[in-house]
Amino acid sequence: MTPLKHIAIIMDGNGRWGLRKKNSRKFGHKKGLEVVENIIIAAIKKNVQYLTLFVFSTENWKRPSKEINYLFNLLNKYIDKEVNNLLEKGIKIKIIGKINRFPKILKSKLKKVEKISKINTKIQVNMALNYGSRQEIIDSIKNLNKKKLLITEKNINKFLYTNNIPDPEILIRTGNTNRISNFLVWQSIYTEIFFVKKMWPDFKTEDFFKIINKFYKINRNFGGLNDGN
Ligand code: IPE
Ligand code: IPE
Ligand code: MG
Repeated sequence: MTPLKHIAIIMDGNGRWGLRKKNSRKFGHKKGLEVVENIIIAAIKKNVQYLTLFVFSTENWKRPSKEINYLFNLLNKYIDKEVNNLLEKGIKIKIIGKINRFPKILKSKLKKVEKISKINTKIQVNMALNYGSRQEIIDSIKNLNKKKLLITEKNINKFLYTNNIPDPEILIRTGNTNRISNFLVWQSIYTEIFFVKKMWPDFKTEDFFKIINKFYKINRNFGGLNDGN
């Protein structure tokens, strides 16, 4: 079986999970972050080249500032604590999305991680931060306009944040919600989508492997003929 090039994940359900367990959405976010590392390791095991994780959407600014700040702090602390571990594992981090509105310290930490992990080759983890598909497409087209380039599929691709990254074969969304929420809309036209009932903090390596196994059984036509396999 050829290894997968790209898996994308909408890590949803942290808040509900936390509320159920400890009446605290924050608790859910904290636990959710712990799952991230397990899934990165699982993806490395399967030789996945790119893993894109939806961490914060362009619409998530609608949340109370208390929750937003908590998420930023969590990320901040996570970088401090885990950056060496990530580097040792050969993980390359790339930020997709516009982090210019993020707190200064977090922004510079994220940029630093991106820079120092550049040489790593085991897996590339794209962290979608203040990411929104519509914004990404608008940005791409604006760039084409500026450079007076033709609006073609190839050129639009070239100026997306995911430039040079193959489209995901698999998109997973946990949290028992069947929608895309402005994630990788352009890139996922032929992606196999798996909606998982479990909340993200309950998502296990086994769940991840099961989805990959299911994927290999799917007959992908890309609009061509279905040969009935
Ligand atoms: C996903 O979990 C993480 C982020 C959007 C930051 P949620 O916080 O959306 O959790 P639910 O969907 O409210 O349970
Ligand atoms: C999608 O989850 C964004 C992330 C997981 C970062 P949301 O919780 O924001 O999505 P909606 O609002 O339920 O569509
Ligand atoms: Mg949610």
